[in-house]
Amino acid sequence: MSITATQIKLVQDSFARVAPIADQAAEIFYSKLFEYDPSLRKLFKNDMSEQGRKLMATLGVAVKSLTDLNGLVPVLQKLAERHVDYGVKAQDYTPVGNALLFALKQGLGDDFTPDVREAWVETFRLVAQTMKSHVY
Ligand code: HEM
Repeated sequence: MSITATQIKLVQDSFARVAPIADQAAEIFYSKLFEYDPSLRKLFKNDMSEQGRKLMATLGVAVKSLTDLNGLVPVLQKLAERHVDYGVKAQDYTPVGNALLFALKQGLGDDFTPDVREAWVETFRLVAQTMKSHVY
């Protein structure tokens, strides 16, 4: 698990460009997620637009905290514990990561360069690994 300072900057700058269209990005994310794996839909019991806002807000916190991983780890561990209660399985992190990349690509257009993509792959891997290794 390693993310470089350059990658952190790419992720933070690109997230800032998606933040103004967070609601649309979240909508794209969920429709792609349920296309990848329709069985995940039943896990979401609450209002999806509210859920989308929470997802983007938490991603925002994670992105900001990439330079302070020690502070981020306990937050992600608690989040992981709640996700077990939601019925989320370790393998569900893969379609979620792929749907996130798709939403970022749509939201960023030409700014979604190969380097930006790779930086997000690394970020999601870090977040997902931290969450999964705590609970599974
Ligand atoms: C990897 C990073 C992830 C982040 C940052 C994230 C973020 C969040 C946040 C902030 C919430 C709101 C409730 C809470 O804070 O406990 C939430 C709820 C939820 N997440 Fe995630 N999540 C992630 C991964 C996943 C994965 C892999 C799944 C699998 C499908 C998933 C499914 C859900 C479900 C089912 C809920 C509850 C929805 C409801 O109450 O209807 N999440 N997530």
